[in-house]
Amino acid sequence: MKILAIETSCDETAIALLDLTGPLGKPEIKVLGNTLLSQAKLHEQYGGVYPSLAKREHLKNLPVLLEKTLKEALTHDQQLTTNNIDFIAVTTGPGLEPALWTGITFAQALGERWGKPVVAVNHMEGHIWSVLYQNGNDQAPMTKAQLELPALALLVSGGHTELVHVKDFGQYEVIGRTLDDAAGEAFDKVARMLGLPYPGGPEISKLAAQARSKKLEASFKLPRPMIHSGNLNFSFSGLKTAVLYKLKSENRSDQEFKEEVALAFEDAVIDVLIEKTRQALTSLPTEVKTLIIAGGVSANTRLTECFKKMVVEEFPHLKLFIPSRLMATDNAIMIALAAYVQVSTNPESLESRETLTAKGNLSINSSSQ
Ligand code: KG4
Ligand code: ZN
Repeated sequence: MKILAIETSCDETAIALLDLTGPLGKPEIKVLGNTLLSQAKLHEQYGGVYPSLAKREHLKNLPVLLEKTLKEALTHDQQLTTNNIDFIAVTTGPGLEPALWTGITFAQALGERWGKPVVAVNHMEGHIWSVLYQNGNDQAPMTKAQLELPALALLVSGGHTELVHVKDFGQYEVIGRTLDDAAGEAFDKVARMLGLPYPGGPEISKLAAQARSKKLEASFKLPRPMIHSGNLNFSFSGLKTAVLYKLKSENRSDQEFKEEVALAFEDAVIDVLIEKTRQALTSLPTEVKTLIIAGGVSANTRLTECFKKMVVEEFPHLKLFIPSRLMATDNAIMIALAAYVQVSTNPESLESRETLTAKGNLSINSSSQ
């Protein structure tokens, strides 16, 4: 199946052309073309993504990336024409609606021009299935195996923090979510308080790693919000406020203090994510076979190390799937993979004549799609 996938839900414009065949748990994946333009530098001055600027950039980037993707694909397959492409997949939510619309409108115009169906893809399904592409994985070289279901997925990104029970391909239930800030958003906000550039996750992670390499220990401990709340929900806004109070009370801006704050903050976020995942694994009625950690924050080395340790020590029967760093943050390969899963399990989605709409709060729960 040749799929042209388009992703514009946030501040990355991405287009990929994939040729996918074989079983869903271990598909044969040929990336014929893959392009991405990050707007992170442009949004830096706002400390987060500015929707109308994102929209303008997507509009400018999409035609350029399409041309580049098709050109790259031709170097892999000189016989390739748009006729050989089976369908177009586009992210319709969740995300920033003005940004989502640019991708949808572009996909629909292309679908009409090429006479191809356009399939709506949920961005969070994209993050889940990002782990199927394990080429050159720097984070989890062991996951070359078949992905078996049921699975538990911890999705940690700039917009979401969710625990999803993946009952089967195409069958999802959210069993826990953040009540306020997403984990990535908390990283970004704390980074901003420390005067670090956007996106803040990698910056905080770097500072915390420096602290660890110097065997520096934080002289204070930050709270682990909702860790024993008795449910699987998260909350990160109190943690961010605790950092703010600490910065105000100490009134220091030296490098060592920043490293200490980053260390205490990263440890607190990871403790909560690990503990809630542990609680989810032990509370699910049927034992899952696979644990998936995905989304931008899964690019965090400390986080993945802690999860690897937890699986080895406490859940040795589990297969752990973590995306490579390139696949952890938004991209279009993961959208093509999610589209492959969706169309294979529900071929009717190819026939759908429904006009696509952007849904900023689209849920991944199977019943609400
Ligand atoms: O999945 P993603 O690319 O976009 C959304 O769908 O939101 O995630 C972006 C988020 C940002 O908040 C960024 O700070 C965070 O992922 N992130 C990290 C790391 N790399 C990216 N957070 C912690 N540690 C990292 N190494
Ligand atoms: Zn994302």
